[in-house]
Amino acid sequence: MAIIINEVSRTFNEYLIIPGLTRKQHTPDKVNMQAPMVRFKKGEDPAITLNIPFVSSIMQSVSDSGMAKALAKEGGVSFIFGSQSIKDQCRMVRQVKNYKAGFVESRANITPESTLKDVIALKQKTGFSTIGVTEDGTATGVFCGLITGRDYRENRDSLDKKVKDFMTPINDLIYAKNGITLTEANDIVWDHKLNTLPILDENQRLVYFVFRKDYDSHKLNPNELSDVNKRLVVGAGINSRDYAERVPALVEAGVDVLCIDSSDGHSEWQKGTIEYVKREIGKHVLVGGGNVVDKEGFLYLVEAGADFVKVGVGGGSICITREQKGIGRGQATALIEVAEARDAYFKATGEYIPICSDGGIVQDYHMTLALAMGADFLMMGRYFARFDESPTRKLLIGGNYVKEYWGEGSNRARNWQRYDMGENDNSNSLKFEEGVDSYVPYAGKLKDNIDVTLGKIKSTMCSCGVSSLKQLQSEAKLTLVSSTSIIEGGAHDVMVKDAKN
Ligand code: IMP
Repeated sequence: MAIIINEVSRTFNEYLIIPGLTRKQHTPDKVNMQAPMVRFKKGEDPAITLNIPFVSSIMQSVSDSGMAKALAKEGGVSFIFGSQSIKDQCRMVRQVKNYKAGFVESRANITPESTLKDVIALKQKTGFSTIGVTEDGTATGVFCGLITGRDYRENRDSLDKKVKDFMTPINDLIYAKNGITLTEANDIVWDHKLNTLPILDENQRLVYFVFRKDYDSHKLNPNELSDVNKRLVVGAGINSRDYAERVPALVEAGVDVLCIDSSDGHSEWQKGTIEYVKREIGKHVLVGGGNVVDKEGFLYLVEAGADFVKVGVGGGSICITREQKGIGRGQATALIEVAEARDAYFKATGEYIPICSDGGIVQDYHMTLALAMGADFLMMGRYFARFDESPTRKLLIGGNYVKEYWGEGSNRARNWQRYDMGENDNSNSLKFEEGVDSYVPYAGKLKDNIDVTLGKIKSTMCSCGVSSLKQLQSEAKLTLVSSTSIIEGGAHDVMVKDAKN
């Protein structure tokens, strides 16, 4: 007979937080949200400390370079999805590492030989009215000039007019050399009353534009997570098949942290991957493992050398693994057991291995619960998929704006490596779906939403009388709630005027 665990496995919705003593010093502005991301020894600092305990899921519909830049600016990390070619994934990593606040890569470019008709079409397609003119029409070609709305009259000029005949040529423009600081660039913009300052390299190739209109948004973001060279921190997903080629390429592209993306991390495939990376590519290469839902799975990956361990099977919003295979565990119970194992391991060895709660976060208070239950940081897909910065389309459905969100185990993503059981049939295909293709309500800008979410978490932490995540883990009091109390938790026995709020 199988081993039967009679304890019910529970999820976040079944718990509430009991307020503690709030002292006068407990105000949200004094709450520290920093969290260790990777393994460290007692008395030392981890190689990466998150400024907010959020990372975005290793998913096509969530984490591309746009999401990674936006989240790192707020203090978290994105894991660029691995279900794409090594080349494309490395390109996304480079886009994040090359990002410099205020320096924008030109997104609309044309050649001098193109016509006004081409310019109008490009403007319509991209929505940008400032167009870089380069010899080969690329964003990094040899710079010839600039076109703005002031260089032509759409209804008067001949559509056949050549770009070279109406652009503002380089000789009439003020430009700056690559390597200039943002403050210096802004000074030039202001001193010369420019709207756009092209930044060129030593071969006169276009590198960036600095725009006057961006000036205000350049103010440093206090939570920005950057490396020693002041470049944004970025992660990437890997798999247990092509790691020997993928990992060196990602490291070369500048990735800061890796994570094996798998629905079941308690496996020899995963152990082999971590050991190979540490042995053959470098001990310093940071790699997380997962997902696991119990102490055994956690310790197995820790012994293999994982720098953090991800917890959660079957709880994701787009996940149908539990229906399809009957495996998984209530996220709260899984997290509590693994957090206990992490603490015991730390006590016994002096090594702290952070754990990441992955999937199943619906309400903002679930984040506080997960952190109180011992998660060092949280991986979320649905939460981030709703924002402008996620890579999917925004659509109007039934009068409401939505964004697309699909699972890595859905037919749309076909990420067979994530569900790979090591068969030797080499069919390289998804045998059956473990995820769905869906919509999530559109929620606007990442920054606005994160500000509100953090505000709620910090406020709860003040109610608990704690001012750091470590303290929350050790001092918060949680209680299980009955199904009737859950009903009591929402508005009840009243007629809500505006159901949307
Ligand atoms: P969410 O935050 O509840 O939307 O869950 C996101 C998490 O679900 C991801 O970080 C993955 O661990 C997991 N996941 C992603 N795609 C799939 C899938 O197709 N099936 C099952 N789980 C998935």
